[in-house]
Amino acid sequence: MSSIKIQKICCIGAGYVGGPTMSVIADKCPDLEVRVVDINNERIAAWNNSDLNKLPIFEPGLDRIISRTRGRNLFFSTEMEKSISDADMIFISVNTPTKTKGLGAGQASDLSWVEASARQVAEYAKGHTIVIEKSTLPVRTAQAIKEILKTTNRGNKKDEISKTFSVLSNPEFLAEGTAIHDLEKPDRVLIGGEDPEAVDALVKIYLNWVPSKQIICTNLWSSELSKLAANAFLAQRISSINSISAFCEATGADVQEVAKAIGTDKRIGNQFLSAGPGFGGSCFKKDILNLVYLSGYFGLPEVANYWNQVVVLNTWQQDRIYKIVLEKLFGTVNGKNIAILGFSFKANTNDTRESPAIRICSDLLEEGAILSIYDPKVSFKRIAEDFEKLSFNNQGIWKMANSIPDALKNVDAVLILTAWDEFFGLDWNYLASLMRSPTWVFDTRSVVDRKEIENTDINLWKLGEGN
Ligand code: UDX
Ligand code: ADP
Repeated sequence: MSSIKIQKICCIGAGYVGGPTMSVIADKCPDLEVRVVDINNERIAAWNNSDLNKLPIFEPGLDRIISRTRGRNLFFSTEMEKSISDADMIFISVNTPTKTKGLGAGQASDLSWVEASARQVAEYAKGHTIVIEKSTLPVRTAQAIKEILKTTNRGNKKDEISKTFSVLSNPEFLAEGTAIHDLEKPDRVLIGGEDPEAVDALVKIYLNWVPSKQIICTNLWSSELSKLAANAFLAQRISSINSISAFCEATGADVQEVAKAIGTDKRIGNQFLSAGPGFGGSCFKKDILNLVYLSGYFGLPEVANYWNQVVVLNTWQQDRIYKIVLEKLFGTVNGKNIAILGFSFKANTNDTRESPAIRICSDLLEEGAILSIYDPKVSFKRIAEDFEKLSFNNQGIWKMANSIPDALKNVDAVLILTAWDEFFGLDWNYLASLMRSPTWVFDTRSVVDRKEIENTDINLWKLGEGN
């Protein structure tokens, strides 16, 4: 076992990964002091808000953990220098979006934030520090981090010469909406690294709550690639079932029945087979595009094309939905009122990154639709920012609704894009009375049961259900 004693941990980046991950580590390891730092003052202030409903991210169960750890052994601050210099172990958990310009634009990850973090670590760290990449990163990023730590250290003042670093990869597999459960009961913890003492020090932390047989140790590159591969496999499954959903609509089959029939084969398994409006979230698209870029870089164009098709199909699914809405509403939505139920990329999160709703709503707005958007957790500000990022020719008008009935008042159609619990089992008899006739409900998440609308004049279109 490791002789390195870890007492203080620092995490750079207080986002959807850093925040929940460090909260659970602090909860499970009360003897450790955990400091989460971020350059974003507003975000840190929100993490420190005494009103737990105002934390910067919504994650079921997170408030409960924060209430017992914050101020005890979990601290959120912008104090970069002290938090880094005090720490024995530093997690880098910053954003790694797809590059928007330069070499690899649209595919490769932008590592500016990782590089800036590594430079901060190189500058402020003292003694021996274990540096852990937590953000999903392209294969061989650990090498880049190592080089930054080495070169920035070179030629420093005399008292800093003794700085040393071990770099590990410890990708996070949590899914948003179930982050706390995934962190408390992970399927596995993956640790990649070459320094056995550093690996052992990290294993020891996880052993506080994760059985040893679930902790997998590999070399650095396998660990980095496993994260990209896991996300690519998961996303591929969604594109596969979505391709079948279109097939079902064309032939009269029902994608729910097909998913059940194929999912009972143990080799296929029954999870991740829900057809929908396409995958969103910060990881899937970014990681596949990364894989595509790296495959091209390593001279593997067939591999690149294979994975790229998963993203192509995902975009096609989103386009397909918007076109179906248009077609059913007599080829035009100009001036028509449409309610959007759900804007987050999945239920139980306020995250909208890569949400299918952004593209589908933008397309409808561009056609002149008037949207009333209801989402239980996503704010007006977030949606406005999402629309702003797309430079589309916005001729439509949108507003936020406070409730489902508020969203549905006088609309010609309802489009359900996220499977929030509260969208199931609605009183469609009442809701239909609020809407204009003829009324359409477009259900992309299999939320509405046909029986619920049988006594109404609602026309129901369900994704993946053939006639
Ligand atoms: C994903 C991975 O699951 C997680 O391991 C990794 O760490 C980060 O990326 P996340 O994006 O948070 O997690 O959520 P996930 O539950 O995987 O859903 C991703 C997208 O796929 C969502 O838009 C979701 O609606 C969609 N999805 C998921 C489907 O359309 N059908 C499914 O059956 C499952
Ligand atoms: P993820 O989903 O991977 O957690 P987020 O975008 O939610 O990504 O969070 C990343 C966080 O990292 C943001 O709050 C951002 O402000 C922070 N960050 C980025 N660069 C730095 C940096 N150099 N130092 C500290 N925090 C940083």
